[in-house]
Amino acid sequence: MSDKKRIFSGVQPSGKLTIGNYIGSIRNWKEFQETYECIYCVVDMHAVTVRQDPAELRRRTFETLALYIASGLDPEKNTLFVQSHVPQHAQLAWVLNCYTMFGELSRMTQFKDKSRKYENNINAGLFTYPVLMAADILLYNAALVPVGVDQMQHIELARDIANRFNGTYSETFVVPEGFIPKAGAKIMSLAEPEKKMSKSDLNGNASVFILDDRDTVIRKFRRAVTDSDTAVYRSPEKPGVSNLMTIYSAFTGKTDEQIVAEFDGKGYGDFKNAVGETVADGLAPVREKFDSLMADKAYLEGVMKNGAERASFIARKTLSKVYRKVGFVGQ
Ligand code: TRP
Repeated sequence: MSDKKRIFSGVQPSGKLTIGNYIGSIRNWKEFQETYECIYCVVDMHAVTVRQDPAELRRRTFETLALYIASGLDPEKNTLFVQSHVPQHAQLAWVLNCYTMFGELSRMTQFKDKSRKYENNINAGLFTYPVLMAADILLYNAALVPVGVDQMQHIELARDIANRFNGTYSETFVVPEGFIPKAGAKIMSLAEPEKKMSKSDLNGNASVFILDDRDTVIRKFRRAVTDSDTAVYRSPEKPGVSNLMTIYSAFTGKTDEQIVAEFDGKGYGDFKNAVGETVADGLAPVREKFDSLMADKAYLEGVMKNGAERASFIARKTLSKVYRKVGFVGQ
């Protein structure tokens, strides 16, 4: 076992992944693979907190894993696995439920948002979602958890749970730090640039998906909502243009000044075309790799199996430590 610090993160296999998921998370993860011991999970158990079509969930679980690999994560260097394959996640989550307060969970903004969105299915799993997430992280003693800004509240809760457990018994869990990558941490909707780009937006032009074909990508950027001005620069009054600049910068590495200079005197039309083409070019190799991986289910199953074995090795140790500390009789 290496003494490298551990990283853990996860993506839900619900909905199609957007360029926001790609820029803000998955794409950055390969940078860690040499310096950290990285564990990335497809969190299918989180996905069933809202109703899923079973066949679709199964397919998306494969797709999410394929996207991890297509985005540059080497399955030899990273542990890639599916949450439901490692039962210790659910087992630890149960114990941690008893160290998490009703009031704490009631304050989670994602719960409040989702309760509004799925008002006919406000199930207990939706409420305890952050506890399962804490279990995911604490099970591996992850030091660093790369996430989007919207998940920071859940990371804070995971820290509180870890500290509470450590304080009640003795040092058991590493207290994790959230980590928000600088570049493109938050990509906004192309249709309503005040809102985060979401996998599940009902407006077909709002989100660009990693697997959208070239023409679709370009068309969506052409239709992106901007404002009545024509000049390209970043400003709080120009959320649409600012968002396009963030995306363009994420795919080209250009700074705001360089972008402003490049489009000086051109209009929004040229700018949107350039962003669309750049994004389409940037996604092409990912989509190609993805297609070839999806054509080889046996390979993906092998990766899952191997990943689950590696993850279980660590998970079993943590869980038995926790069981011992709370007073369960060992077997
Ligand atoms: N809740 C996260 C999201 O929706 C996904 C997730 C589940 C996760 N478990 C995690 C992220 C553990 C980081 C670590 O984005």
